[in-house]
Amino acid sequence: MNSSEKLPTVVGITGATGSILGFRLVKALLQLDEPVDLVISSSSYPVITQEMSLSLPGPAEQRDAILEYLELDVSRYQDWLTCHSNKQLGASPASGTYLTRGMVVIPCSMTTLGKMASGVSDNLVCRAADVTLKERRPLIVIPRESPFNLIHLENMTRLHQAGGVILPPVLSFYQEAFNSIDGQINYTIGKVLDHLGLTEHGLFPRWSG
Ligand SMILES: Cc1cc2nc3c(=O)[nH]c(=O)nc-3n(C[C@H](O)[C@H](O)[C@H](O)COP(=O)(O)O)c2cc1C
Repeated sequence: MNSSEKLPTVVGITGATGSILGFRLVKALLQLDEPVDLVISSSSYPVITQEMSLSLPGPAEQRDAILEYLELDVSRYQDWLTCHSNKQLGASPASGTYLTRGMVVIPCSMTTLGKMASGVSDNLVCRAADVTLKERRPLIVIPRESPFNLIHLENMTRLHQAGGVILPPVLSFYQEAFNSIDGQINYTIGKVLDHLGLTEHGLFPRWSG
C-alpha cells in the first residue's frame, strides 16, 4: 500500500514544552504506515532547539531533517510525511474536503488552546483543528501547562463540548513499562493512537487485571 491510499493524520506541534511528544507521535504514525501532515508553529522552533538540540529548516526543507532526527529511512518514508507552514492557510488540511483520519495537537500551548476554543483560525494549526471539529473527525489535544488557570480549564471544557478529546501527558505508574521517561512518552503516544483507532501500536502492555 502506498501513502496516497490511506487517510493522513494532521499533527500540529505548538510552542509548549515537550516538543519531543509531537516528534515521537510522528515517528509512531509513520512506523504504523500512517501518512502524516505536519504543521509546526513558529513559536515551536526555539523550543525545539532548546529541548531537542535540533535546529530545523523551514517547512519546505524540513521533511528529511525530521526523518533523519527520528532515525527513519528517508527514501522509505519521504512520501509519508508532508510538512506545511503554519502561515499557509491554503494548505490541504485547511479544507474539509481534504479527507483525514483526524488531528492531534501535541504539545498544545495555552495560546493555541485558547484560539481553538474560540474559533480563531488565523494559522494552519487552528484552521485545521476547526475543520476537524466541523467535519466531526477526531481532534485530540495534548495540553501542556501547570497549574491550569480558570481560562485554560474553561477552554478545555469548551473544546471537549465541541467534540475534542483532551488528553494531557499525565504521569502513570501502574505498569513497570512506565518506569522511565521513555515509558511515560510511550504511554501518552499510545493513548493518542488508541483515540485515532490505531490500537495495534504495542507502545505499552494492556492492563489485563
Ligand atoms: C522554552 C519554552 C517553553 C514553553 N512552554 C510552554 C508551555 O508548556 N505551555 C504553554 O502554554 N506555553 C509555553 N510556552 C509559551 C508559548 O511558546 C507561547 O505562549 C506561544 O505564544 C505559543 O504559540 P503557539 O501556540 O502558536 O505555538 C513556552 C515558551 C518557551 C520559550
